[in-house]
Amino acid sequence: MDKLVIEGGISLKGAVTVSGAKNSVLPLLSACLLTNERCRIKNVPNLRDVITMIKILRSLGAYAEYSNGEVIVEAKTIKSHIADYKLVSTMRASFCVLGPLLGRLRKAKVSLPGGCIIGVRPVDLHLKGIKALGAKVEVQAGYAVVEAKGLRGAHIYLGGVFGSSVLATDNVMMAAVLAKGKTVIESAACEPEVVDLANFLNKMGAKIKGQGTPCIEIEGARHLHGTDYHIVPDRIEAGTLILAGAITGGDCLVRGAFKEHLGAVLDKLDEAGVRIEDADGGLRVRPSKKLKPVNVTTLPYPGFPTDMQAQIMSLMSVTPGISIITEKIYPDRFMHVSELNRMGANIMREGPHAIIEGRKSLSGAPVMASDLRASAALVLAGLVAKGKTEISRIYHLDRGYENLEIKLQKLGARIWREKE
Ligand code: EPZ
Repeated sequence: MDKLVIEGGISLKGAVTVSGAKNSVLPLLSACLLTNERCRIKNVPNLRDVITMIKILRSLGAYAEYSNGEVIVEAKTIKSHIADYKLVSTMRASFCVLGPLLGRLRKAKVSLPGGCIIGVRPVDLHLKGIKALGAKVEVQAGYAVVEAKGLRGAHIYLGGVFGSSVLATDNVMMAAVLAKGKTVIESAACEPEVVDLANFLNKMGAKIKGQGTPCIEIEGARHLHGTDYHIVPDRIEAGTLILAGAITGGDCLVRGAFKEHLGAVLDKLDEAGVRIEDADGGLRVRPSKKLKPVNVTTLPYPGFPTDMQAQIMSLMSVTPGISIITEKIYPDRFMHVSELNRMGANIMREGPHAIIEGRKSLSGAPVMASDLRASAALVLAGLVAKGKTEISRIYHLDRGYENLEIKLQKLGARIWREKE
């Protein structure tokens, strides 16, 4: 296994380009199952999760190949409707093959993803939506087994106790595009990655309106055809790179950062006193004077994204004053707290809240990555900590960040990868 080594204390300077959005490419790859024609997805980051999704498509009988930033998928014939536990359990997002398999074959057997370190991760909303479209849904030996003679449009309320669900919205949308008649999804997720999926499906011949709003309307189509598509930049990677500049007091241009996808994050960073301005096809973070503590609550889009919670906690760990972070999407998503405290942070957990007393500095230490965004938070902390930080188990980081250490090296960071 690899580890990352960071010698902190360098103010980052220079320009870096954001890769394509992980949480866009994964559902788009599964949507390719809805047609027997060739699809080409462009601007695809080289991530472990992308490779896992490609393996799942191949296990179903589709052709899928990744080469320099593009994935070609051709599901001419699908030889199996079963997505196996071994693959699905390694990546929760693979549950989003359920909708397209049902849409294409009228049947699917997909392993329930099970929980992960950030929370229970239920799929009740996915199954509720699929059932509403006329499918028979059973849970058998850890698998969701769904079947439908025909799929018909329905009016579905998809809000859950934690608000809207991104992948449940995706699954229902992908099952509905070939159903007979009109489907309305109320309390749909509004994330830019859901919009990307809807736009991709429309390019394939689907008839979807309202994507990006809580009410999505889908007119069933008879057939979807292959197409090419360029996915949006990764707003969470963009936010992470902006925070790398902010936490080190640097001057960095993050090319490809879409301001309109980062509203809540930019608003909160502005409140904290981080200087960010539009520049040269992206956003530029400039050296800021004294930062101020802020209170953050994570919410479904357009609220503050849970996927940026760990990263802003690192910034607040070195911002003098008291900050409070409330995690409303995954109340247990605080694995990074104990590791940041090992670096000298002063963070106290109280249920879904983390109370942070910002320190003047952190000290480098050996720490352990536990999940994708916690790993990113530890990298940010390592960049500003005095001395050397070693982050083990960085396969978590490689799931969702393409060559992060290389991007940071280009900004002057002293960071490198070693064998553990
Ligand atoms: C997507 O996961 C993202 N993953 C997650 O990013 C992200 O954290 C999450 O949305 C929230 O923004 C991908 O897009 C591949 P949800 P998803 O269904 O769709 C509850 C990362 O770091 N819920 O929107 O699985 C659920 O427990 C990953 O890149 C139900 O109650 O998340 C959570 O509390 C981590 N019932 C809330 O809704 C359901 O049927 C939001 O979950 C489904 C979800």
